[in-house]
Amino acid sequence: MNEEILIDVKNVNKSFGKRKVIDNLNLRVCTGDVYGFLGPNGSGKTTTIRMILGLVFPQSGQIHVNGHDIRTNYTDAIRDVGAIVENPSAFLYLSGRQNLQLRANLYKDIPASRIDEVLQIVDLQDRAKDKVRTYSLGMKQRLGIAMALLNNPKIVFLDEPTNGLDPQGMKDTKELIVRLAKENGITFFISSHLLNEVEQICTKVGILMSGKLIKQGSVKELLSSNTDIFEVVTADIELAVSLLKEAAYVKSIQTKNDGIVVEIDKNTFSQLNGLLMTHQVTVTSISQQEKSLEQLFLELTSGGEKHV
Ligand SMILES: Nc1ncnc2c1ncn2[C@@H]1O[C@H](COP(=O)(O)OP(=O)(O)OP(=O)(O)O)[C@@H](O)[C@H]1O
Ligand SMILES: [Mg+2]
Repeated sequence: MNEEILIDVKNVNKSFGKRKVIDNLNLRVCTGDVYGFLGPNGSGKTTTIRMILGLVFPQSGQIHVNGHDIRTNYTDAIRDVGAIVENPSAFLYLSGRQNLQLRANLYKDIPASRIDEVLQIVDLQDRAKDKVRTYSLGMKQRLGIAMALLNNPKIVFLDEPTNGLDPQGMKDTKELIVRLAKENGITFFISSHLLNEVEQICTKVGILMSGKLIKQGSVKELLSSNTDIFEVVTADIELAVSLLKEAAYVKSIQTKNDGIVVEIDKNTFSQLNGLLMTHQVTVTSISQQEKSLEQLFLELTSGGEKHV
């Protein structure tokens, strides 16, 4: 597949009154990406999505969707886009099918058969006649995705799609996204404040913090850091901490009940080991930890306060 830029956000700034909520944002999403847009509450995720969809305007910067300027060529920009922003807004007293019909009427050219297709895709065909009021949250979410799929979009925006879902609902939603990306070639832009919810399904991740994109890249790129993390199980926690605090290659230390977790420069393990041995720190075990994206995310978004 040709890598085509579907979303191009350049130097975008947005303030509400005096409060700057988006600060010189630059991001790109290409065909086939499942882009995880991560950030804590209030970091500006929904505002960004609303700007990309042309629902609010930035004070400065440019946004192109599918090659079209969202401001000057809205109709073309939005043609191949599907979206659920915040909660999917279905009418509770109507059935799933009626909701889809209403939504389909907003477009000129959606054939009736498309409603059955999208019901099938999200596995709601058996409940299509029931009122949405009787749906579980997971089913409402899937109905929202069905609505977003009606116009056969190239790219779908999902704002916190797994918010409030139970583990099974989360699993279903994630599987649905992966399936749609693989089988139908749909590109996704998914926001979340919970990293582990998107970590397994995203090909690319951007981390937003107070309106600034502080990291962007593939999950693999973000995880490849220049430090290693070791868990040292020891009864001599105080001694170990006092020694390691002074070592230049130690980047951070966290204490636990039965030992410490220490982050050190890459390839400095023998120095760490040597230091503990020389000072006769009783060590029960030392094991290397894989850094999860969750840890990285917490570090980045908490300003690295664990650093010594
Ligand atoms: N219409 C608005 N008027 C004034 N301030 C707003 C408006 N919309 C958003 N904000 C402010 O912009 C900031 C970013 O909000 P936004 O909803 O984009 O964050 P978010 O990352 O989606 O958060 P959450 O994870 O809670 O959904 C917040 O400080 C919010 O109060
Ligand atoms: Mg939001």
